[in-house]
Amino acid sequence: MLGMQIGVDLGSSCITAYARGKGIVLCEANAIACDSRSGDVLAVGNEALAMLDRTPDSVTLKTPMRGGVISDFSVQCDILTALLDRVCKNAVLRPNLIVSAPSGLSALERRTILQAACACGAARVSVLEDPIASALGAGVSIEAPRGVLVIDIGAGTTDIAVITMGTVAYCRSLPLAGDDFDQAIVRFLRRTRGVEIGLPTAKRLKHTIGCAAPREEEFEAAANGKDAVRQMPLQFSVTSTELCEALRDGVEAIADAVLAVLEEVPPELFADICEGGVTLCGGSAKLYGLDTALAEKLHLPVRVAPDGEHCAAKGAGYALQHMKQLEDHGFSFRLKERNIS
Ligand SMILES: Nc1ncnc2c1ncn2[C@@H]1O[C@H](COP(=O)(O)OP(=O)(O)OP(=O)(O)O)[C@@H](O)[C@H]1O
Ligand SMILES: [Mg+2]
Repeated sequence: MLGMQIGVDLGSSCITAYARGKGIVLCEANAIACDSRSGDVLAVGNEALAMLDRTPDSVTLKTPMRGGVISDFSVQCDILTALLDRVCKNAVLRPNLIVSAPSGLSALERRTILQAACACGAARVSVLEDPIASALGAGVSIEAPRGVLVIDIGAGTTDIAVITMGTVAYCRSLPLAGDDFDQAIVRFLRRTRGVEIGLPTAKRLKHTIGCAAPREEEFEAAANGKDAVRQMPLQFSVTSTELCEALRDGVEAIADAVLAVLEEVPPELFADICEGGVTLCGGSAKLYGLDTALAEKLHLPVRVAPDGEHCAAKGAGYALQHMKQLEDHGFSFRLKERNIS
C-alpha cells in the first residue's frame, strides 16, 4: 500500500492519529471555537479547548461528541477535516486512513465520517469499530476462536466488548466515563464542602490524586474554587480518600455493566475470559486503582494496557498495516468502505 498509513481515533475528548513508523502524530481536543455571529472558525483542537468555561458571548465553543454519540455531524466533520489536514498536508503521496469510531453508527453517519476523512486528501479510508481497534492497540490477540473481554473507558463512554474471531460477539456501550468522573468530583465537593469548582479543576484533581481504590498513602492537593454560599473565592485542599468516595458510584456502575454483559456470555466464552482476564484501555483506565477496584468486583484478573488513551489509534494503524493477514484469518472489517471519494 503506497502513502502514509494512519490510524485515527475519533474520541469524545480527543482525536488521535498514529502513523506507521512515526508513532502518535496528532493528539488534539475534539473541539472547535467559532465566532458566535459570523460562524467563522477561530480555533480547532487544544487551542479551542483552552477556552472552555472562559469564552465571552461572542465566541461559541463546540464539542460535538458526547457519550459516544456525535450530536452535531457537520461540526464533527469540520473538526476531523481540519485536524487531519495538519497531519496529511505535507505527505507526498495521498495517505490511507482507518478511523476508529463508535460502534452503532448508521450507514449515513459512517459515510459522513468517511467523507470528512477523505476531505483531507486521503486515498483510501475505512471505518473500524472502537472495541476492535482498542483491542488490537492493546496488543490483545483477537483472531482466534477464543473470547477476550476488552473494556475501553474513555471520556464520554465505556465500551465493554467480548471479542472472538475478530468480531464483537457481545458488547455494551455505557454513557459514563472520565467526563462523568469529573462531574462527580464537582458534585461531591459542592455537597460535602460547599465549594464550587470548574470541570478543568476537577479533571486536574482526578489526574493527580484521584483513585478508584484507596491509595497506600493518602495524598492531598490544593485547589481554587468559590464558596457556594458567599460566592467568594476560596482556596482549599482535598484528599485522595475524598476523591475515592466521589468516584465510587461511577466505578460501581461500570462494574455492574460489565457483570450484565458477562451474564449474557455463553459458558465457553465465559471460561476463556476467566482464564485470560480483562484488558482495560482508554485514558480513564489510568485512574489509580481502577484495575484493583474492578478485579475485586468482577472476581477476574484485570490488566491495564500501556498507553491506554492511544490504543484505538494504534489499533487502527495496526489494522491498516495488517489488513491482508487479518482478512486471511477471517477478521471482518465490519464497517469497511473504500474509495468513496
Ligand atoms: N491519569 C489519569 N487518571 C484518570 N483519568 C485520566 C488520566 N489520564 C487521562 N484520563 C482521562 O481519560 C479520558 C480521555 O480518555 P480517551 O482519550 O481514551 O477518551 P476518548 O477516546 O476521547 O473518549 P471516548 O472513547 O469516550 O469517545 C479523560 O476523561 C481523561 O480525564
Ligand atoms: Mg476512545
